[in-house]
Amino acid sequence: MADAFDLVVIGAGPGGYECAIKAAQLGLKVACVEKRDRLGGTCLNVGCIPSKALLHASELFHEAGANFADMGIEVSKPKLNLKQMLAFKDEAIDGNTKGIEFLFKKNKIEWVKGEGQIEGPGKVKVGDRTLEAKNIVIATGSDVAKLPGVDIDEKTVVSSTGALELGKVPGKLLVVGGGVIGLELGSVWGRLGAEVTVVEFLDNILPGMDGEVVKNFTRTLKKQGFSFKLGTKVTKVEKQKSGLKVTVEPAKGGDAEELEADIVLVSIGRAPYTEGLGLDKVGIATDKRGRIEVDASLKTSADGIYAIGDVIAGPMLAHKAMEEGVALAERLAGHYGAVNYDVIPGVVYTSPEVASVGKTEEQLKEAGIEYNSGKFPFTANGRAKANKTTEGFVKILADKKTDRVLGVHIIGVNAGEMIAEAAIAMELSASSEDIARMCFAHPTMSEAVKEAALAVTGAPIHM
Ligand code: FAD
Ligand code: NAI
Repeated sequence: MADAFDLVVIGAGPGGYECAIKAAQLGLKVACVEKRDRLGGTCLNVGCIPSKALLHASELFHEAGANFADMGIEVSKPKLNLKQMLAFKDEAIDGNTKGIEFLFKKNKIEWVKGEGQIEGPGKVKVGDRTLEAKNIVIATGSDVAKLPGVDIDEKTVVSSTGALELGKVPGKLLVVGGGVIGLELGSVWGRLGAEVTVVEFLDNILPGMDGEVVKNFTRTLKKQGFSFKLGTKVTKVEKQKSGLKVTVEPAKGGDAEELEADIVLVSIGRAPYTEGLGLDKVGIATDKRGRIEVDASLKTSADGIYAIGDVIAGPMLAHKAMEEGVALAERLAGHYGAVNYDVIPGVVYTSPEVASVGKTEEQLKEAGIEYNSGKFPFTANGRAKANKTTEGFVKILADKKTDRVLGVHIIGVNAGEMIAEAAIAMELSASSEDIARMCFAHPTMSEAVKEAALAVTGAPIHM
C-alpha cells in the first residue's frame, strides 16, 4: 500500500529530519510530514542557521570598522548594505534547507507536505491522505513564548523571527529576556549600530550557565555597549506616534519606569508546539509546561508513538533533538541507541563565544560533589596573543577523588569549536590528567584546554 510506512515522523526540524534519515539508512520505509514550505524546521529556517549567518556577517562588519587598521589593513569606514546582508542570510537558509531535501530524496524518504494530525494509533492524517505507520515520531518542535499583554506584530514588537529580518537598523533595541536569543540577536543589531538594552527578570543573564563565566561575559557585553536592566520585568509595551513606550518594574516589586525603544524583541524562551496534533485522540500526556511526556525510551503514553526534540523536556537545542532522533531511529530499527544527557554542549555564538558542557560549579556545590578546578586565561595563550583575541578563559572542573572531568566552561573566540574537545573527553570518561597528557597543536587557542587541565591538579606551563 502506497500510504503504509514503517515510520511516520511529524515535523522536519533537526530532530525529525535526522530521525527520518537514520531510520531510512537502516532500511525502514519512512515518511516525514512537514507543513512549512521548506524542510529543516525552526533551526534551518528561523533559528540556528539564519542567526549564525547574521552573527558572522555583522561580526566581520564590526571587525572591519574597529580592528582591521591595527593589523595594517586600511579600509575606509565600512558601509552597511543591510538588504545584501539579509540576502546573504537567506542564501544560507536556502542552501541548508535544499540540502535536507536532497538527503530526503537520496534516502527515499517521502516528504508529505501539510499539517499532520494523529487520528488514532498508527494513523496520521495529512489533508485528505491517511498515512498508516507502525511507529509515529512527534518532532513538532517549539514556538515563541508569549509575554502576557504584549502583542508581537513582527514589525516593531518582534520575536526572533522578526528580528532576523528588520528592514533597518533600529536606533534603540529593547530586548526582553537576557537568554541566548536576546544576547545573540542583540549582538547582531548592536554591531550594526543599534543601542541595545536588555531587560532580564532574574538577577543575571544566561541563567543556568557557570556563574564565573556569566560575570565575565556580562562585563564584556557591557564594554561592547550593551545596557542591562537585571531583576526587572516588562509590564507594558505601548505603540506611540513614533516608537514604543516600554514600562518596566523591578521583578521583586517597586516603582515603574518608562523606556523608549524603536524595536522590542521578545525572547523570554520557547514553548512546545503541539497545536492541532490531536494528542487527545490517543491520550498522550503533557506536563504542566505543555511538553509531551516520554519515558527513557522516548515513548509517549500511547503505544507506538514517540516524541523528541523541543516538544519534550530538556535543553531546547538542535543537537539534543538530533541525538534523540538518531537514537530513536536506531532502536526502532532494532539496533542499540542512547543519548547521554550529561554531555550535551551549549554554545552562545556571541563575540567572544561562550561554551559549556557538563556541570557548573553551582550545580556541583548544590549536589555536594567535591571537585578541583583548573583555569587558564587566553591572555597567556600564544595564538590568542598573536591574534589579539585574549579575552576569556577555559575552566575545567574535575572530581576531587577520581579526577574525572565533570564540566568544562569556556569564554573566548572559537569556544564553540573548542568545547567539542571537552565533550569527547567527557564522553570517554577522561580525567583532567588524560587531557593534560595529550599533545595539542601549537599555536592554537585549544592549548588553553590542555593548560586548564594541567591547572586542575598541578600547574600550567605558561603561567
Ligand atoms: P523544530 O526545529 O521546531 O521543527 C519542528 C517542525 O515541525 C517545524 O518545521 C514545524 O513546521 C513542524 N510542525 C509542527 N507541527 C506540525 C504538524 N502538525 N504537521 C507538520 N509539521 C509540523 N539551537 C542550537 O542548538 N544552536 C543554535 O545556534 C540555535 N540557534 C537558535 C536561534 C534561534 C533564533 C532560535 C529560535 C532557535 C535556535 N536554536 C538553536 C534552537 C533550535 O532551533 C531548536 O532547538 C531546534 O530547532 C529543535 O528542533 P526540533 O526538531 O525539535 O523542532
Ligand atoms: P532562554 O530560555 O535562553 O532565555 C530567556 C530569558 O528570558 C531568561 O534569561 C529568562 O530569565 C528571561 N525571562 C523570562 N521571562 C521574562 C520576563 N517576563 N521578563 C524579562 N525576562 C524574562 O530563551 P530564548 O533566549 O528565548 O531562547 C529560546 C531557546 O532557543 C533556548 O532554549 C535556547 O536553548 C534556544 N537557542 C539556542 C541558541 C544556541 O544554542 N546558540 C541560540 C538561540 C536560541
